[in-house]
Amino acid sequence: MKLLVLCSILATLHVSVTNAASNLVCYYNSASYIREGLGKLQNPDLELALQFCSHLVYGYLGIRGDNYQAYSLNENLDVYKHQFDEVTSLKRKYPHLKVLLSVGGDQDIDADHPDKYIELLEGGKVRQAGFIQTAYSLVKNHNFDGLDLSYQFPRNKPRKVHTGLGATWKSFKKLFTGDFVVDTNAALHKEQFTAFVRDVKDSLRADGLLLSLTVLPNVNSTWYFDAPALNSLVDFVNLAAFDFLTPARNPEEADYTAPIYDAGSQNRLGHYNVDFQVQYWLQQQFPSNKLNLGVASYGNAWKLTAESGIEGTPVVANTEGPAPEGLQSQKPGLLSYPEICSKLPNANNQHLKGNDSPLRRVSDPTKRFGNFAFRAVQDGVTEGLWISYNDLESASNRADYARAKNLGGVAFFDLSYDDFRGLCTNDKYPMLRAIKYRL
Ligand SMILES: *[C@@H]1O[C@H](CO)[C@@H](O)[C@H](O)[C@H]1NC(C)=O
Repeated sequence: MKLLVLCSILATLHVSVTNAASNLVCYYNSASYIREGLGKLQNPDLELALQFCSHLVYGYLGIRGDNYQAYSLNENLDVYKHQFDEVTSLKRKYPHLKVLLSVGGDQDIDADHPDKYIELLEGGKVRQAGFIQTAYSLVKNHNFDGLDLSYQFPRNKPRKVHTGLGATWKSFKKLFTGDFVVDTNAALHKEQFTAFVRDVKDSLRADGLLLSLTVLPNVNSTWYFDAPALNSLVDFVNLAAFDFLTPARNPEEADYTAPIYDAGSQNRLGHYNVDFQVQYWLQQQFPSNKLNLGVASYGNAWKLTAESGIEGTPVVANTEGPAPEGLQSQKPGLLSYPEICSKLPNANNQHLKGNDSPLRRVSDPTKRFGNFAFRAVQDGVTEGLWISYNDLESASNRADYARAKNLGGVAFFDLSYDDFRGLCTNDKYPMLRAIKYRL
């Protein structure tokens, strides 16, 4: 009887300790340190964020194509200039912070070995032991608290845009050719991945190191993640539930890139929304408090053409791929939050005309799909632009969603695309703060 009472007291305690929605997992890609100009995020900028983050996921390690060992993709900075150690030493000042070292993250682009992530799974224990040993050493030697696998699985094929008869023929053909199957051995790879994660976990256990998984955008959880089996192996899973459409993958049509719910109609795919992805993991009995919802601090920007029309309402047709890169983002089709902020109507741009005129912003009072902002090709505008993005409000809505579903919290991708200089409203890291405030 006494034991029973004790157990139930412990159980209550446990619930209050693992208070849902208390994680704010911040992604930090050290490549942002070597950007030029305003996009350059240096250590004093990084440090300002740490009071808000429960975890910092430091990216990225890659896999060597020739021997499958783990190594820093940014070795000069991370290892030789001691950025790994600089960042993990910040834990002394922020003792609550856990810093994990991440592998992959779609940053490990290797034209000579495009399939190395699959080859590592297929390579069996010997090949994997080399990876595991080298990853463990980097974690251990540089005082990280654990490892994150942002594993680069084959991604879904993007939806093809074809009109009329072509579309019907296409969908027929797809049925016969299995056009949507990106990996005929997905079932095997799923099994191999679980076994691999088990071995990775074994390597970390003795030191009490953490292990997390990040499900990258457009990686299909059904194919690669055995949620019930992974539950006992990982501390948490971060769902990068955004970039369902991107200007690079879907050059000819623009849409909400991270709707919380299915916007329905117009042949939208039922699994391209946050709620579907979260529900999928919950239906697999994965504990909600170990699931963190990914929120992007950047927007996706398409080039509009005259044929895209002037309404802006998604799905927007006849777009022309990624909009030009921002000075800060330095990546076509991607704009950081402060870059978007400077293009929205404000005191500096209200009188500008043509290609410099402010964007028209359309917010979403239903809180279900997200915002967009655009500038149509008309009235002297030749460079049309359409952006799907988070503002402070929609980012907070996602934190609310995470809380409502009793998730562990939010995973923020990434710190360098938030307004870390306070250019927009004088507040530094306004989006990170907005999310933290709601959790
Ligand atoms: C994976 O893809 C299949 C087929 O395209 C789809 O039905 C399923 O919902 C997807 N799973 C997730 C979690 O997105």
